[in-house]
Amino acid sequence: METVSTIAAVREQVRRWRSEGRRIAFVPTMGNLHRGHVSLIEAARRHGDRFVASIFVNPMQFGPNEDFAHYPRTPAEDGRMLAEAGCNLMFTPDVAEIYPHGSERATRVEVPGLSRMLCGEFRPGHFEGVTTVVAKLFHIVEPDIAVFGEKDFQQLTVIRRMVADLCMPVQIVAAPTVRDSDGLAMSSRNQYLTPAERQIAPRIYATLLAAVNRLRAGDSDFAGIERSGIQALESAGFRPDYFSVRQAQDLGPPRSDTSHLVVLTAVRLGKARLIDNLQVMR
Ligand code: PAJ
Repeated sequence: METVSTIAAVREQVRRWRSEGRRIAFVPTMGNLHRGHVSLIEAARRHGDRFVASIFVNPMQFGPNEDFAHYPRTPAEDGRMLAEAGCNLMFTPDVAEIYPHGSERATRVEVPGLSRMLCGEFRPGHFEGVTTVVAKLFHIVEPDIAVFGEKDFQQLTVIRRMVADLCMPVQIVAAPTVRDSDGLAMSSRNQYLTPAERQIAPRIYATLLAAVNRLRAGDSDFAGIERSGIQALESAGFRPDYFSVRQAQDLGPPRSDTSHLVVLTAVRLGKARLIDNLQVMR
């Protein structure tokens, strides 16, 4: 695996592969990789034949009181994991390479509507930061395919919409959420949990499962299901931001005949803000 930190070096390598007729698959990340990220590289391997991963903690997607400065950075270990997973090129730009005029003044890409609901309501500007950096990374790498985790379901939906709206010639592939054995979705932010909080954290998945079971059984009292979810999370010790049943397609309000639903939640627990979701077909 080659490691580069300039846009020019990525373009040079990708141009070479393209001239050989290779299909390029791309996995954007913020590093501090775990099995969830590795599963995206494995999904990429089913769709392409050269693999690029980026590691960039994107300041634009963090709010002023969020964890940008403290976000875990483990570049050496990340490099080992990517090489082992079969990645060909690791792109590790610094902030000045991506935002030469500063992230505050950079041109932005915005998906209104989808970006303002759910997590967007609690993290103003977050998805604007995500779409801006992902659009830039797509222009730098020009991949045929890009893989995103269902763990960040709203992010995946926002990116699909951006790609469609801006006619970006990239196919978006979704990869399922990787969980610890007790159900907790893997996340770099799980490290912020104390041992006692880590014991409570799997209740997020259990609460989502309870909602999914009601939906599968034909229950369409969405407001009641949301209320029960919030109550269960609060009594387990979380401070929930939201627990919401939506249409999976566009995160709009569900109807009793919507066949593809998603239950999404975001909670605060100690220093961590954790998100998770489960889809239901019925
Ligand atoms: P990051 O949180 O590092 O996640 C990178 C990718 O890994 C995302 O597509 C995310 O959905 C996926 N992922 C994380 N945990 C996962 C899990 N447990 N199972 C499956 N996939 C998982 O998401 C970002 O970075 C950033 O917002 C980014 C898209 C890179 C833009 O900065």
